[in-house]
Amino acid sequence: MFVHVVADNRARLLTLCAMLGQKCNVTSELLGGASINSRNIEAVVVAADLGSVANISALKAVCARLARAPRRIFLIDRKARLSVVQAYALGATHVLPSAINQAQLLAKLTDGDVPAIASGETMSSGQEAASAGAVNIASMFSAVMSGSPIDVRGAKGAGAKIAESIAENGLSDWLTAVRRHHEGTYQHCLLVTGVAVDFGMSLGMAPADIERLYSAAIFHDIGKARIPLAVLDKPGRLDDEERALIETHPAAGYEVLKRAAGVSPEILDAVRHHHEYLDGSGYPDALCAESICDVVRILTISDIFAALIEHRSYKPTMPREKAYEILRGMNGKLERALVEDFREVALSR
Ligand SMILES: [Fe+2]
Ligand SMILES: [Fe+2]
Repeated sequence: MFVHVVADNRARLLTLCAMLGQKCNVTSELLGGASINSRNIEAVVVAADLGSVANISALKAVCARLARAPRRIFLIDRKARLSVVQAYALGATHVLPSAINQAQLLAKLTDGDVPAIASGETMSSGQEAASAGAVNIASMFSAVMSGSPIDVRGAKGAGAKIAESIAENGLSDWLTAVRRHHEGTYQHCLLVTGVAVDFGMSLGMAPADIERLYSAAIFHDIGKARIPLAVLDKPGRLDDEERALIETHPAAGYEVLKRAAGVSPEILDAVRHHHEYLDGSGYPDALCAESICDVVRILTISDIFAALIEHRSYKPTMPREKAYEILRGMNGKLERALVEDFREVALSR
């Protein structure tokens, strides 16, 4: 079996290589060092501190390069419960405690049964919903990247948990739970889902519409799985080519979901059209007001707001008041009455 080992320090790398070397063909790389490009890797074993921002960004590149390896085992510190989520968000297929012994690791590599990391500490319902959401979004993204089927039911279940958490604890708690523990596209999808649900609830929408809304929100950026991370996470301004590439994501998401069972036409419509504006200046279909339905209008407002307030390592977090002012300034693009209704969600809920 061909196994590739990645670690954030030399001692760990050597230990793991020694553990696996007797039974497997092992290649290895030190995180942040020279990268290995092997084609036949059957499993990747990652041992790195997922609390480090530098490690996360280096691992994103590694994981994108090795996404085709069927098994991606992350070894994490048992205490760092939230690293589990981060590991799944990076595309882990298995998350195991770093104290694993040789026999257990070899067993896992050959399909043996090692229990997944135990939940040592109790999590709040918001954190639990955020974890479930991140895991589902992460696995949807890796499914799209590897061309395997999307777990539609799992994703909707995660959306339902988010809705429960918002109903119970409110939006502010949700924003804190998500922003603290997730990053990038996963953070964004979780934030949009929470904001959209809260907006729907504040508008008094029926439960069936709320369900439509959270499903649309959780799926809305799935097409970004097709966009290279270098573009997706680029800190500075995008050039024309990069922008054009980003703008392919609504149609790409629509195409992926169209082939999945259990995604209704309304959800498909919302995924495809969440970047359309009432004045026809949006993409991909340059729709005008009459062709943009309510769920899409609500999702678009939630999406823009969430993008403005999310935590990114390269930009300060925008206060909710300022983000709301920007929404209010988008004259002609968003429905004015809805933006007014959104005030309470944006500022005080
Ligand atoms: Fe989007
Ligand atoms: Fe989005």
